[in-house]
Amino acid sequence: MYIWFTVVAGLALLSISLLGTFCPHLGEDCAYILASLKLGLRLFKYKSSKPFYSVLDCFLDAVKRHPTKVFVHFEGREYSYGDMDKRSNKVARALQAEARLKEGDSVALFLANEPSFVWTWLGLAKLGCPAALLNFNIRSKSLLHCFSCCGAKVLIASQELQGALEEVLPTLREQGISVYLMSETCSIEGINTLSDKISRASDLPLSRDLRANINIRSTALYIYTSGTTGLPKAAVVTHERVWAASFIQAVCGVTSEDIFYINLPLYHSAGFLIGMIGGMERGITIVLRRKFSASQFWDDCRKYNVTVMQYIGETMRYLCNTPRVRAKDGEKNHRVRIAIGNGVRTDIWSEFLNRFGDIKVRELYAATEGNIGFINYTSKIGAVGRVNFVHRFFFPYTLIKFDTEKEEPVRNSEGLCIEAATGETGLLVGRVTRRSPFVGYAGNQQQTEKKRLRDVMKKGDLYFNTGDLLWFDDMKFVYFQDRVGDTFRWKGENVATSEVADILTMANCIFEANVYGVKVEGHEGRIGMAAVTLQEGEDFDSLHTYKQVVNYLPAYARPRFLRIQPCLEMTGTFKMKKVKLVEEGFNPAHIEDPLYFLDPEKKMYVPLTEDIYRAIACRDIKL
Ligand SMILES: *[C@@H]1O[C@H](CO)[C@@H](O)[C@H](O)[C@H]1NC(C)=O
Ligand SMILES: *[C@@H]1O[C@H](CO)[C@@H](O)[C@H](O)[C@H]1NC(C)=O
Repeated sequence: MYIWFTVVAGLALLSISLLGTFCPHLGEDCAYILASLKLGLRLFKYKSSKPFYSVLDCFLDAVKRHPTKVFVHFEGREYSYGDMDKRSNKVARALQAEARLKEGDSVALFLANEPSFVWTWLGLAKLGCPAALLNFNIRSKSLLHCFSCCGAKVLIASQELQGALEEVLPTLREQGISVYLMSETCSIEGINTLSDKISRASDLPLSRDLRANINIRSTALYIYTSGTTGLPKAAVVTHERVWAASFIQAVCGVTSEDIFYINLPLYHSAGFLIGMIGGMERGITIVLRRKFSASQFWDDCRKYNVTVMQYIGETMRYLCNTPRVRAKDGEKNHRVRIAIGNGVRTDIWSEFLNRFGDIKVRELYAATEGNIGFINYTSKIGAVGRVNFVHRFFFPYTLIKFDTEKEEPVRNSEGLCIEAATGETGLLVGRVTRRSPFVGYAGNQQQTEKKRLRDVMKKGDLYFNTGDLLWFDDMKFVYFQDRVGDTFRWKGENVATSEVADILTMANCIFEANVYGVKVEGHEGRIGMAAVTLQEGEDFDSLHTYKQVVNYLPAYARPRFLRIQPCLEMTGTFKMKKVKLVEEGFNPAHIEDPLYFLDPEKKMYVPLTEDIYRAIACRDIKL
C-alpha cells in the first residue's frame, strides 16, 4: 500500500512536470494531489494501527495536548477540551449503568444543536456504540420510521423535544424501547430522566477495552438522507468515512489556530462530520449555534474571532439579503478567511465577496452515503472541482448519458451505458471498489439496491448512482447541474416528493397526489407544491388537509400550494408527469384548476387569489 502511494506520487510529479508548461492550474493541482496523498497515507496508518486509531482517539490526544483550550463556545458559555472529555465520561457511565449499553448497540440521538449533542456522541463512542442522528424537525410517523431503521433500543432526546417524544411514546413503549430525556425531572410515565444521572456519575476515563472490537469498517454513525424516493434513509457511515470527511478541513487549509463557526444542523454530515468531527481532527475551537441567523452572523464572527465559516447555498443568500451596514468597512470588519460548503450560485458568490471581503470559498460536492466527492481547490468561479487523474485513480468515476424524460441512463445496443461528452450533462456514477465502497442504508436493502447501477462500462461491473447531474468543461473543471427526479431542496433541506405524497393521500378527501417543487423569485431552491385529485364525491377539506400536513411534515416539506385536478397525467411507464406542472408554477392568472395556499396564520389552506400571489411576489408574505 505504502509503495503504491510512493509510486503514484512519483508518477504524479513526473507527469505534472512534463505537462507543466501547458497547464495553467499546475500549482494548484500539484498542491492538492500532495495534500490528498498525505492524508491518504495518514488514513492508511490509522487503519493498520493496532488497536485501531479512531477520531475519538484523536480527540483524546487533543485533550492531552490542550485540556484548557476552548473546544465549543455556545450561547455565552465555554466548554474546554477537558470539560467535554469529562462530561462524555459521565454520559458514558450513566448510560452504561442505566441502559446497560455495550459495544455495538446503536443509540438514536434526538437532540437539538447544543453541546450535549457533542459530549453525548463522544460518550457513546467511548462505549463503542454507533449513534443515529435524528433530524430534530421530524415528528410522528417520520420520526418512528427513522428511529426504527437504525435498529436502536435506546432513544435520547433534548428536553425541548419532549412534546414530539410524547406523541410517539406509546409506540416506542410497545416496542420495548428505553427512552431518555435530557432533563432532571419528568412526570411522564415511560420517559426516564438522564441529566440527573449524568450529574451523579463519575467523570473518570473509561477503559479502551470497552471498544476493543471497533475497526475502520465498523459503523460509527447513521445519518439520514432524503433520497429520491420514500421516507428518509439511514446512511451507514463507517469509521473510514468519518475519517475521510474529517480531513476536508485540512484539505481546505484550516489549521489548529482557526476558529470554526457551525450554524448548520448537527444531524447532517456537513455540520457534524465536516464541522464538528473535522474540528476534533484539527483540535480547534468551534462556535456552535442553535440555528442559523443572518442578522447575528457577523456579530458572532466578530465576537468570537471566527476565521472559518460553513455555508449552504441558502445561508449564503440570506447573508446577501441582509440590509447593508453603512459604516465604513463595517461589513468587511471580521476575520473570516475560509468558507466551506456547497450549493452557492455564481451570482451570490460574487456579491458575497464584494460585500464581505476576500474570503476563500471552498465549494464541495459530496453525498453522505456516496463514494465520490469533489472539492473546489482552484480559483474557478462556479466549478465544484477538477478532474484529476490521481483522484480518479483512487476513486474511479464516470459521467454517463442520461435520459431526463425516462429518468434513466441511456444504454447502447449491448446494454451498456455511454460516457457523456465533454460539455454534455451526464449522471455521475462512482465505481464501487474496496477503497471506495458503498455501504448502503440500514435495514433497507431495496433502497440500497436502487442506488446500485450495474453493467455500466463493462458487463458485471458495479457503480454507485449519485442521482446528480454534472458536466465537465474542456479545461477539466467540474460543474454541478441538477438532481435527478423526485427530490427538491427548500431551506437547505432535501424534500422527498413521495414522502410528502404519502402524507397527503392519508387525508380523507385526497385520492392521489403528485408532489413537486416550484421556483419563487428571490429564493434558493424550490418550494413544495402538489397537484391532487379528490376522492369521488368528496369536497376539498382545507382544514383537515392542513392538519394532516402540519402534523406529519416538517415545515420545509409542507406543500405551500395545492392544485386540484380532475385527474393526474401519467407517463407511459406510469410515473406522474411533473415537468409541465413545475413549469406552470402557481400563478392563478394562468392556471384554471382551483389553487390553494397554506396559510399558517389562518391555520388552513385558503384559495390562492391574485392578491396573495402578488403579496408573495413582492415579499409581503414571507415563505
Ligand atoms: C478576539 O481577539 C481579540 C484580539 O486579539 C482578543 O482580545 C479577544 O479576547 C478575542 N476574543 C475571543 C472570544 O477569543
Ligand atoms: C472556488 O474557489 C475559488 C477560490 O477560493 C473561488 O474564487 C470560486 O468562486 C470558487 N467556486 C465556487 C463555485 O464557489
